[in-house]
Amino acid sequence: MTGAAQGIGLGIARTMAAASYNLLLTDVERDLVRAEAASIASDGGRAIGEPLDVTRAEDWARAVEQAVAQWGGIDVLVNCAGISPRGTIESTDEALWDRTLSINLKGAWLGIKAAMPTLRDRRGTIVNIGSVRATRPMPGLFSYVVSKAGLWGLTQQVAVECLDIGVSCNMVAPGWVDTPNERQIQARHGRPDFPAGLRNLTTPEEVGAAVLYLASEPARKITGSILYLDSGLHVADDAGMVHLPDRSRPPYEQRFD
Ligand SMILES: NC(=O)c1ccc[n+]([C@@H]2O[C@H](COP(=O)([O-])OP(=O)(O)OC[C@H]3O[C@@H](n4cnc5c(N)ncnc54)[C@H](O)[C@@H]3O)[C@@H](O)[C@H]2O)c1
Repeated sequence: MTGAAQGIGLGIARTMAAASYNLLLTDVERDLVRAEAASIASDGGRAIGEPLDVTRAEDWARAVEQAVAQWGGIDVLVNCAGISPRGTIESTDEALWDRTLSINLKGAWLGIKAAMPTLRDRRGTIVNIGSVRATRPMPGLFSYVVSKAGLWGLTQQVAVECLDIGVSCNMVAPGWVDTPNERQIQARHGRPDFPAGLRNLTTPEEVGAAVLYLASEPARKITGSILYLDSGLHVADDAGMVHLPDRSRPPYEQRFD
C-alpha cells in the first residue's frame, strides 16, 4: 500500500495488520515509513516498510517484486498516496497541475499496471482512496478535484477491464478525515480545531475498516463502486458546505436517538 507513513494510509495499515494481513508499507517518506512498519511489527503485526515514489514506474517494479518475494504475491493493492493542494483554475500553474495529477492519478495507474500480473494470479482487489470531492467539487481545490474525479474514472475503467479475470477495483471516498497533516492545513486557515461545528470527522481507522470490507470475501461482487465515508456530504444539496452545519443541530449520529 502507498502513502502509508502517516495519516489515512497509516490508519489503514494498522487496521489491516490487526486483521492479520502481511503488509508492505510504502511512502516517499522513507525513514518514517520504515519506522511505522517497525512499530507495527513490534506490536505483533507482519509489516515491512520501503520507500516508493508512486510517480516512478521503476519504484513500482521494485516494490511489486519485493512483495512477491516477501509475501508470495499481492491480494490487496491500496493506492492511498496523495496531495491536496489548494488553487483555483487561474491560480493553479502547470507545475502544480502536473504534480497533483501525477501523484493522485498517474501513481495509481502505475501501481495497478505493475501489480496486475500478481493480482490476476491471486484474483486480488484494488482499493483506491479517492475523496468525496471526486463527485462533489469545491471551489479552490482545482487540481485536487480533477485528479480525484480522474481516479474515479480510472477505478471504473479498471473494474471493467478486469471483470473477466476476477480482480475487483473500488474507490473509498472519505469526507473530512482527522489526520495530523489535515489539522495543520486547517490551522493555516485559522481553524486549529477544524471549522466550527464540524462534528463528523472520519478517522483513518474507519477508512481502514472500509478497505477491509472491500477486501473481504463477502464483498467479492462489489467492483467499480464508490464507498462514501462522508456523513452524507455527497448527497447534501448545499454544494460542499454541508461540513459547516448549523451548530444548533445535533451531531449526525445523535439525530437517530
Ligand atoms: N485527510 C482528509 O481529510 C482526506 C479526505 C479525503 C481524501 N483524502 C485522501 O486520502 C489520502 C491520504 O491523505 P492523508 O490525509 O492521510 O494525507 P497525508 O499527507 O497525511 O498522507 C499522505 C502520504 O502520501 C505520501 N506521498 C505524497 N506524495 C507521494 C509520492 N509521490 N509517492 C508516495 N507517497 C507519497 C506522503 O509522504 C504522506 O505520507 C490522499 O489520497 C488524500 O487525497 C484525505
